[in-house]
Amino acid sequence: MSEPATPLYNFEALGFVPGELVVVTGAASGIGRATALCAAKSGLTVAVWDMNGPGALATAKDISEAGGLGFAVTVDVFDEAQVERAWRETLAKGVCRYLVNNAGPPSVKKGPFGDLLRDALGSMERVTSLWLDHCGEQAAALVNIASIAGTAQGSGKTVSSFYPASKAGITGYTRWLATRHDGRPRANAVAPGITVTPRIAPMLELPAMQDLATRVPVGRLGQPEDIAHAVLFLLSPAASYINGVVLPVDGGVTLA
Ligand SMILES: NC(=O)c1ccc[n+]([C@@H]2O[C@H](COP(=O)([O-])OP(=O)(O)OC[C@H]3O[C@@H](n4cnc5c(N)ncnc54)[C@H](O)[C@@H]3O)[C@@H](O)[C@H]2O)c1
Repeated sequence: MSEPATPLYNFEALGFVPGELVVVTGAASGIGRATALCAAKSGLTVAVWDMNGPGALATAKDISEAGGLGFAVTVDVFDEAQVERAWRETLAKGVCRYLVNNAGPPSVKKGPFGDLLRDALGSMERVTSLWLDHCGEQAAALVNIASIAGTAQGSGKTVSSFYPASKAGITGYTRWLATRHDGRPRANAVAPGITVTPRIAPMLELPAMQDLATRVPVGRLGQPEDIAHAVLFLLSPAASYINGVVLPVDGGVTLA
């Protein structure tokens, strides 16, 4: 029998200093939202970044109703000026020690290849560069959200060409970050398999998707919390000697 997807773990044991700040991008929904909620349970104060303002406010409200600390920042991370403004707004609350780059365009988005790569990969670079400019030596760790589409899984039937290209780019960028400055901040990536989020829901009925789902060795699709747990671990002081890895969180599907 499969394990339950969302048991209650002791996130405080991850070793974060209570009240330190983390930015989670795309935190109004899906993986980003689950990550924001777990980060708050682990004691971090969460800057909930999303282009969906009401959604970001809802995540921040859920964090505070669960006894945590969080605030919403409405920002389109594909827009340079908005990212600069969002950092100013966020850093007014204090130094940001942690970053989770999660927001990205959906795999089915259509448009010129170069434009989509700039949105998916370029936006992550801009968010990260400004973080490093502002927080420098105090930046402790970041986790970038890649995908098995960029590391292992053929996905020509379900995604646009830019998507695996950008996710592969994210893994390369993460490795570059991990070694650029004596391993400070630590930089790791998580490569989720199919994860049941609002974004993926309309695609679950596709034959290619159903075929993939039946091949997951643990016997179920991923839940946002499955990804969030891995993100929080890699971000945390408990993972202080892990730097430059790209961790598949896919129930083993890429080996099947
Ligand atoms: N769901 C999956 O199966 C899966 C698998 C592998 C990787 N991923 C990756 O995980 C990440 C999150 O995906 P999800 O499935 O949770 O999606 P989701 O649609 O449930 O949530 C994405 C969130 O990001 C926000 N967002 C999108 N573009 C933004 C922008 N330009 N600026 C600010 N916010 C923005 C959206 O408003 C939304 O709240 C993405 O990078 C995706 O590529 C997802």
